[in-house]
Amino acid sequence: MSTIGYADLLALGPVRGYLARVEERLADDVAWVGGSTAATAGETLAAGGKRLRPLLVLLSAPAGRQGDEDLVRAGSAVELVHMATLVHDDVLDHAALRRGRPTVWALHGDRVAGATGDMLFARAFGVLAETGDIACLTLLAQAALGLSEGEALQMLQTREPGTTPERYYERCTLKTGRLFAAACALGGRLGGLEPADVEALAEYGRLLGLAFQVADDILDCEGTADATGKAVGTDLIGGTATLPLLMAATREARIADALRRQPAPDDVPGLLALVAETGALDDARDAARELVRAAEESLDRVAGDLDTAPLRMVVRGVVDRDT
Ligand code: IPE
Ligand code: IPE
Ligand code: MG
Ligand code: MG
Repeated sequence: MSTIGYADLLALGPVRGYLARVEERLADDVAWVGGSTAATAGETLAAGGKRLRPLLVLLSAPAGRQGDEDLVRAGSAVELVHMATLVHDDVLDHAALRRGRPTVWALHGDRVAGATGDMLFARAFGVLAETGDIACLTLLAQAALGLSEGEALQMLQTREPGTTPERYYERCTLKTGRLFAAACALGGRLGGLEPADVEALAEYGRLLGLAFQVADDILDCEGTADATGKAVGTDLIGGTATLPLLMAATREARIADALRRQPAPDDVPGLLALVAETGALDDARDAARELVRAAEESLDRVAGDLDTAPLRMVVRGVVDRDT
């Protein structure tokens, strides 16, 4: 069974109600385009996922506004952008498994995966445009740009065990933090919060995204495919210099070598055990907890009428998860 630290939150009526509305909206948004791209995008949607980014949209809006249709539009739009990046990311990472199912790339190849991701990106902006709020479109466009900049930076850092933590965080801010920040900012803005509060929420989202990515990178070393729905060791095999791997590489030459040269599949379990022995996973977890603390400090700056307790629950739950 999968565990996540904010499961209690997901059981609350308003949260469940909102996520059900987003789910319905997503199904329509993906089907809208029709044809084979709708079918391949539909496979990605049906495979599930945590729907964390729409949840952030909801929780960043004051309770009195949480029933607004615009929040459903924004929730669907951020999830569509997220799905687009996953479909494209699986091409770059040569990842065969996602959300417990074969990826679009594995089933249909580069070109179909490229087209599917492009469609999802485009659809996201069409959905968000229904809010009639140009600033919202700008927020999402900046996040989408960050995602591609981050993925490009990741390619430059591939097979580079000397990548510094600073450069790693720079890339993760772009590829993960920006979309989390946009989800929070969209919820706050559409919920009628003041610009300073929207800014503080965006900073919370950025830091949450970094903590989330560090946790994902730890799971790639010590998680199970059953719980994550993804193959373990993808980063090590692909030479992606994640925080735990780059920390381990400075302590153990065999990890640096494995990052530089693609290790044989049979060697991967032993190498991942070695990563754990260096203490890098524990140190990366400590770094993620530090980011969680900083994210909570950003919430302390929110002055408007927003209950920040659920957002605190989310950020405290992202490090100790297995999914
Ligand atoms: C995976 O995101 C990509 C990262 C930013 C690490 P999620 O872990 O939120 O993926 P789903 O939506 O639950 O599948
Ligand atoms: C996150 O990085 C991907 C994006 C934010 C686009 P990963 O490559 O670690 O994501 P997973 O592990 O494939 O979900
Ligand atoms: Mg990947
Ligand atoms: Mg990963």
